[in-house]
Amino acid sequence: MISQETKQRILDATRIEDVIGDFVSLKKRGANHIGCCPFHNEKTPSFYVSPSKGIFKCFGCGESGDAVSFLMKHEHYTYPEALKWLAQKYNITIEEEQLTEEQQQRRDMRDSLFHVSEFAEKYFVETMMDTEIGQAVGLGYFHERGLSDEIIKKFGLGYSPDEWRAFTDYALKNGYSKEVLEKTGLTIFKDDGKMYDRFRGRVTFPIYSVSGRVLGFSCRILSKEKQAAKYVNSPDSDIYNKGHILYGLFQAKNAISRANKCYLVEGNLDVISMHQSGVENTVAPCGTSFTIDQVRLIKRYTPNVTIVFDSDAAGINATHKAANLLFSEGMKVRCVLFPDGDDPDSFAQRNGSTALQEYLAQHEENFILYKARITSEEIKRDPIRKSELVGKIVDSIALVPDLIERSDYIQQCASLFATPEQTLANNVAKAIALHKQQEWKLQQQQASGAQTDQPSADSQPQSDAAGPVVPVVQAPRQDEFKSLNPAEAQERNLIGVLIRFGDSNINWTYTNIEGKEVTELMPVASVIVSTVLSAKLSFANPLYQKVFDQCLEALKQEKIITATQFAASDDAEVRDLAISLMVQPYEVSERWLTDKGIATPSEQQRLPSDVRDSLLHFRLKKVESEMDACLQQLKTEPDEDMRMALVQRFGQLQKVKKAIGQDLRIVITAR
Ligand code: CTP
Ligand code: MN
Repeated sequence: MISQETKQRILDATRIEDVIGDFVSLKKRGANHIGCCPFHNEKTPSFYVSPSKGIFKCFGCGESGDAVSFLMKHEHYTYPEALKWLAQKYNITIEEEQLTEEQQQRRDMRDSLFHVSEFAEKYFVETMMDTEIGQAVGLGYFHERGLSDEIIKKFGLGYSPDEWRAFTDYALKNGYSKEVLEKTGLTIFKDDGKMYDRFRGRVTFPIYSVSGRVLGFSCRILSKEKQAAKYVNSPDSDIYNKGHILYGLFQAKNAISRANKCYLVEGNLDVISMHQSGVENTVAPCGTSFTIDQVRLIKRYTPNVTIVFDSDAAGINATHKAANLLFSEGMKVRCVLFPDGDDPDSFAQRNGSTALQEYLAQHEENFILYKARITSEEIKRDPIRKSELVGKIVDSIALVPDLIERSDYIQQCASLFATPEQTLANNVAKAIALHKQQEWKLQQQQASGAQTDQPSADSQPQSDAAGPVVPVVQAPRQDEFKSLNPAEAQERNLIGVLIRFGDSNINWTYTNIEGKEVTELMPVASVIVSTVLSAKLSFANPLYQKVFDQCLEALKQEKIITATQFAASDDAEVRDLAISLMVQPYEVSERWLTDKGIATPSEQQRLPSDVRDSLLHFRLKKVESEMDACLQQLKTEPDEDMRMALVQRFGQLQKVKKAIGQDLRIVITAR
């Protein structure tokens, strides 16, 4: 854990043009630096780096962010890794945060688990390479399966002797505790205190983290005997979570980036065979069904995945599941099917590396089109099932986020199935709507769960000094989730001003507690936070509320969070929001206008009135939605007193609305 202070020092020292300059050749142009975008192929530069804002943006592919996110995207670092890289560049020693005793113990335990796993890897390798039986049985097995010594070494393959406690005794003798042996699952403990090695008489495949640490093992039986499991794997532990790891990723990650493509195969030996055949951008799930976390791991390196599973029924089923998961994360999915009974490993062993590479290149197919093709064959065989079969492919198409790609698929499927395009398109639209609805419900559940203990401030009109006590009126919930309805747009706009200009000072006129009008030079953050608080307003969007709360907390400590700090927040949601708000408009349009000789007030000059208008519009939308809610409730409210109160409240809101309208100099239409 890097301390907050060190993090700040690193970020303060960071100069984005320096950092990006290490990877991209940049030229100074006006206030910016420009170069060719490293995230897509281009000949004319459209990649802008703004030293003053501390951000980059590519106008070609839309990639954008700050120095830290540049490193995360370009070098595939995690957030702490990127910070460490910067610390090294700017010679800053990393001060780690004081850990609590419990955290320290946890960390010590994790360290011990890593150590014992690495110790075990070494033991298995040595047993295979340096003992007679290891060479004969373990190494012999791998040679028989066509693996070279080089590839055996690269994957850390080894052999565990066929004895009950060979490893456990050796580890205990070397000072490893029973606890770590049990926690990593290397040793199995019986209730009666007896212990024995988990892996006995098997060849061992270490499973590495992305950065190459040993997390666990997958161990294959040598004999063809059917009684025992083919693979015995490490159980999940503090360091190993099989759903979050991909076998081979450590060895494959650079090749995946370079090729901008990842092959997904079924087994450990398929990964190794593919590597040996020169197809190094290959990974496999670790003996589990493919998970969304594994999709996201791949997504760090490439959006393109080619699934290479067996063509038996189980393999095809797994292919479909994997494809749908990949689609849901916006990945491009292709597939390659091998002739019946073959997998990449057996194919390579029989036909050689070149044949494997050629086969992959020639038989790769867009997944949806592959699915469409086999669906149309099935329909021919079994026409009664047509709508069911088409339904399945419609579900997959609905998961594709890109509109153009989707309509391409619809077109091609329509002609394949001899179904009108419009019918298919309607079905896809229905499937998407269904999906959205489910997401919505989930969001709503989460939101209402989060709000029960903290009613939003604008629903507490009783605190309004002049008004009567009115029951809590909720704005129609749905509205909050339509993306960028007018109320949401006003919220976003206000948060945008807060994030981007929070630390700018403006002259602000307001009425103080004594009722006097005063003008004061104030930072925008104070202006916005105090105005919103005193009007007892809040944000419907929880992310905006979070940003607002962070500003409030900072102000309490007499600090202001700058745009750059927001863009470097360790909260990914906040960071993304800040960056997307920061790279918005002005720059381009402003240049346009000055080029044409039209003078426009600079952003800075416009700031006071922008802040004022943003606050007024924000307030206006809140008032309007409360008015709507009043009307809505009036329609069904049977209690006469309550109706009276609602009518009164409505009248009050009408006045507030009129006043805001006058301030904004806009005509308020009757509601
Ligand atoms: N697997 C497992 N436990 C089993 C069987 C399989 O964990 N009892 C996992 C392993 O990670 C294996 C993968 O599923 O690599 C694919 O299984 P399979 O194709 O049967 O194994 P291969 O590795 O291809 O082994 P081989 O070619 O030697 O049959
Ligand atoms: Mn196999």
